Parts: sequence; C-alpha cells; structure tokens
Amino acid sequence: MTYGEKIPIRSRREIQAMREAGRHVAEILLALRQMAEPGVKTLEFDRLAAKEIDRRGLTSSFVGYSPGGLPPYPASVCVSVNEEVVHGIPGSRELRKGDILSLDFGIICDGFHGDSAVTIPVGESSAEAGRLIEATRDSLYQGIAEMVPGRRLSDIGHAIQHRAEGGGFSVVRQFVGHGIGRQLHEPPQVPNYGRAGRGPRLLPGMVFAIEPMVNVGTENVRMLDDEWTAVTADGQLSAHFEHTVLVTEETPEVLTRIAESH
Ligand code: MF3
Ligand code: CO
Repeated sequence: MTYGEKIPIRSRREIQAMREAGRHVAEILLALRQMAEPGVKTLEFDRLAAKEIDRRGLTSSFVGYSPGGLPPYPASVCVSVNEEVVHGIPGSRELRKGDILSLDFGIICDGFHGDSAVTIPVGESSAEAGRLIEATRDSLYQGIAEMVPGRRLSDIGHAIQHRAEGGGFSVVRQFVGHGIGRQLHEPPQVPNYGRAGRGPRLLPGMVFAIEPMVNVGTENVRMLDDEWTAVTADGQLSAHFEHTVLVTEETPEVLTRIAESH
C-alpha cells in the first residue's frame, strides 16, 4: 500500500476539540450499550442516538454519508447483529438472548469527528462468542499499544492481526481503520493486518480511528441488497471494536474512552 498524503499533526486546539468529540461519542455509546436486551428492536438504538445528538447540539457523522455513490447511510448509529460485520442499518429486527450486538457511532463536535464501536453479548452468549469478543477487543488494544512515536503505521495492523489470528480467528480485509479529523475518513487507511515496519513513522499529534473486525470463520464478507450491510460470507459470527486514538509523546490517548467504556 502507498501513503501519498501527509498525515496532519493536530494543534492543541484541534486536540481539545477532538477530546470533546470523543467524550460525547463515549458517553452516548455507553447509553446505547445499556439499552441492549432481548426484545429491543435495532431501530430503538437509532432513536436514542439521534435524541442524544440533538440534545447535545452535535451533528451525526453517519447520517447521509455516501461514499463512492452508495445510497446515503440512513441512520445515526450502525447496528450489526451476529454475522453482520459492519454498517448494519437499524430496523425492525428484535434482539434475542445469545445474539452479539455491534454498535458503531460517530459525531461531529465543533468541526471534528469522533468514531467508536463496541460488540457486546445480549443476555448471555456462547463461549465461542465470548472468546471472539475478547479477542477482538484485545486486538484493538494491541494495535493501540503500537501507537507511540517512532513506530510505523503498519505496526498497528500487524499487532492486531497477530492477536486475532493467535486466538484462532480471522481478520476482515475489506474494511480498514482510517485517519480522522475534520472528515470522518481521512488518509491514511489503517489495515488490520500486514507486515510490521512499513509506512510512515508515527508522531505525536496524529489521530487515527483503529477498528478491527474479526470473524470466527472466513475473513470474506458479502454485501446485502441494502448496499450497506456487510455480512460474513459463511454466516458465522463477527465482532467489531473501534476507538479514536491520539498519538502522544507517551502512552496513546484513547479519545473515545471514559470510565466503563470498552
Ligand atoms: N466506523 C465506521 C467506519 O469508519 C463508520 C461508518 S459510518 C457509515 O467505516 F455511515 F458509513 F455507516
Ligand atoms: Co471508523
């Protein structure tokens, strides 16, 4: 892969704005998680998300998003259940005990985006689902641990892949992490796999959204007719975790985390 564009170094003011955006994302995502129980319809998550965005004077990062001629994304939160990998559209589907639920949420605050995702069990889920969720979360944090000055961009994906595959799972190739700032998706792409030691060196002030999607079975995905929902090609479970993260002189700062966050 190539790295054509310079990665911006955020100023103190920009970092303050991104911290604020990240805090809103974390608070709202936590409230969304707390709604997850059997019988809840996936569109109910979108109602709460939209209400919180409105109440706080924010703008959704997702509503109307239309990359590359896709139909505009119609909701404030992506809700993906079980074999749905990402970008599930909230609707009349009811959650059932034993499902796993992925919530992906982003907002704009004072011109800057925050983006985060989490997968949780609904009621209690299978041991395998539990291991998948744990491995995916862990892989995200292994990737984040690489986000220190002097490391290279591909070290992030390498660490993610190592943890996910070490747990016996596969890493989705078709979707990647990304730069984030005044746009939801900025260069560079951040794959969740690959060789270490490639690409630009990381510097304090860079911000990336890191978002591994990890599958029980095949890494391959296919699109549903709605043109948004990606599902595993073999119908097995998938999990997704994401944080917006600032590289600092010291430990990486997870902008979308508050107490009790993933
Ligand atoms: N975290 C997801 C991503 O970066 C959010 C997608 S927003 C949507 O791809 F509008 F495209 F759904
Ligand atoms: Co993202």
